Parts: sequence; structure tokens; C-alpha cells
Amino acid sequence: MVNFRTLDDVDLAGKRVLVRADLNMPLNNGTVSDTTRIERTFFTIKDITAAGGKVILISHFGRPGGQPDPALSLAQMTPVVERTIGGPVIFVPTDWNDLSGAQKAIADAPEGAVLLLENTRFHPGEMTNDIELARRMAALGDLYVNDAFSAAHRAHASTEALAHLLPAFAGRAMQGEIRALSAGLTNPQKPVIALVGGAKVSTKIELLENLIERVEALVIGGAMANTFLFSQGIGVGNSVVEKDLAPVARRIFDKASDANCAIILPVDGQIAWRFEAEAPHRTYGIEAIDPNGMILDVGPKSIERIKGAIDEAETLVWNGPLGAFELSPFDAGTLAIARYVAERTRAGKLVSIAGGGDTVAALTKAGVRDDLTYVSTAGGAFLEWMEGKPLPGLKALRRD
Ligand code: 3PG
Repeated sequence: MVNFRTLDDVDLAGKRVLVRADLNMPLNNGTVSDTTRIERTFFTIKDITAAGGKVILISHFGRPGGQPDPALSLAQMTPVVERTIGGPVIFVPTDWNDLSGAQKAIADAPEGAVLLLENTRFHPGEMTNDIELARRMAALGDLYVNDAFSAAHRAHASTEALAHLLPAFAGRAMQGEIRALSAGLTNPQKPVIALVGGAKVSTKIELLENLIERVEALVIGGAMANTFLFSQGIGVGNSVVEKDLAPVARRIFDKASDANCAIILPVDGQIAWRFEAEAPHRTYGIEAIDPNGMILDVGPKSIERIKGAIDEAETLVWNGPLGAFELSPFDAGTLAIARYVAERTRAGKLVSIAGGGDTVAALTKAGVRDDLTYVSTAGGAFLEWMEGKPLPGLKALRRD
């Protein structure tokens, strides 16, 4: 944490602390189905209130397009925040053009209070990183704490410009995320293995190219593996494949070989003839895929091969399921590997870091989400980190 100031570096007593959280949580019929993001910010809120500071939570929610949208009001998150912190939260209806009402609500709130302002994206200046909006935000606080790693890939007023206008600190969740990600790729115990799955190579080219420079082994699964197999002249039948990306796949093979990174592809697959749950299926060796069939999951030999590769590694980073995990039983490969990663981690043999919506869903389904070393709540930010891109929200927090 050399480059980031944290809550340990500041006296919080009597301070108004603007805490950029990520309350962009999934809401289904008025219920938040996954509260992990606010749970992770709990310690930041508690540390500030315990020290006698006021917490002013700011966050975006959804993509309202720069104008108020009652369906995306953060007012509906108030009860969830209250339940998480076990105390009252004052919701402040916020006019981002005129923050005098918010100023007063903050001034009137008692020491140790927690306030929640309205969706920052109700103002168009949030997403354009507007300095005037950031200045108005800055006038509400004495200190700025960013606890929203999952929004750190956005250069927005509340994640970027604001960090330059007040003394800026990493919150507890942000600290945990930075520490874990550093242990994953920046400064890992080697050898490192990366598991990358998902449907499309086209969305993960930069990620794959960055990883092969940094890891000793790269397991490619999911439908994107089909493109790599196809690029090697292997018939993939009716499987999802991006044939036009075969040259890209070949380039990645070449670069991996130059970088001494082993690329591990499936050696067998679960083949079905319909893309649906419980579709009849059979295991085929990868060289003998039925021309009418589709590869929907890795087969048992591939699972053993991947487990063997994990045994060789000290550190694992994972993004993307290895098969069509949304369709049972084609989730079996992903679940088996998830449980194995958890087992190795529990045994103290592996540092394991995973992120991305589908990956987290798969770990949850496997019942091992809490058994990995670190599971990131970030989607896009985790991907951009794996791509090796600088994240503006993090960069703005650095003290050097
Ligand atoms: C996320 O859910 O990944 C973050 O909250 C960022 O949301 P965005 O993709 O709408 O910027």
C-alpha cells in the first residue's frame, strides 16, 4: 500500500468524509439480490463513524443517462445500507446543480451520522468527469475516500476529478482489492496460472495478450476455446466459434510461445446437439468432435489436465466460466474446477483471485465463493485490470 493513503493516515474526528461507494447492486423486484458491494464498504463506514466523522456516501446506480430517473434512485438502497451497517442512514434528495440542500442536511446531521446522496449519474457531468460538478461535490466534504474499485475504470467526476480536489484516501474495501490484485498479477508468487473463459475471444484479446506476458500457464475455456482449437485446424462441429479470429488466436499462440507461457486448451468436451439445459450429451475427444455437435463444456480429461496445471501453480487468477455454465449439466467443468481451486486454497497451496459477474456466479453456485483468497466484486474494472490498463480511479488516488 506504499502508494495509497488510507484511513490509517488521517484524523477523521469531526470530518465530513465523502465516501465514493459502488452501490450499483442488482435489484430484482425491489430486492437487492447481491449485497456484497455494500458489505465490503461496511468497514470503511464503521472506521469513519467510530472516529467521530460523518460519512457522506456517494455512488452511481445504473445508467440513467445524465438525468433523474426515479427507478434508479438510490433512495431504494437506504434500507439495504441500514441493514448492513446496523444503524440509521439519512437519505438526502440531491439536486446536483444546487447542493445547498445537501450542505444543510450534512451540517445538521450529528457526529457519526451516515448520509446517502442521490445517484451521481442523475447529472450529465458525472460521466463527463465535469470539474464544476466535482467542485460542487468537493464543497460537501473535508476528505474524500474511494471505496469503489468496481467503478475505478471510469474517469467520472465522483471517481476521478473529485480525488484531485480533496485529500484523497483508499477505503477499506479498496485497500483489500488493491492488496489482492497486487498478489494476483503485479507482485505474485510464481508460477502463476490464469483461467480465462467466456464466449468470445473478441472481447478478451487485450486480456489474453497481457496475461501471456505475465503468467506461466493460461487455461482457455468456454466457447472462446473453440476459436483457438479451430485456429489449429481442429473441427469444432456446430460449436460457437469466431472463425474470423483464427489469425488472432494464432498470433496469441506465437506470443505465448515467445513468452514461455503454456496455453492449455480442452483435450475433450461434453458435446450436445441442442443448446439447452439437460440436452442429451456425450463426451468426445477434441480431435473427434461430431460435426453436428456443439462443445458445451470441458470433458473429464480436460478437468484432470487443468487440475494438474493448478497443482503446479502458486497463484491463480480467474475470469470467465469454462463451459456453458448457465445450462445444467454443462456447468459441471466450471464447478469442478471452482471446488478444486477452493480446496487448494484452503490447504494453503494456492493464492486464488477471481472476478467478473459470471465467475462470481459460478463460484457461488459451487458453494465456494468464500473459500478463495479474494473474489473481486468488480466486473469491467477487473477485466481492465487483467488487461493491464491503468484505472483512472486508482491513478487519481496515488500519492506519487
Ligand atoms: C459495475 O457494475 O461494473 C460498475 O458499477 C460500473 O458500472 P458501469 O459499467 O455502468 O460504469
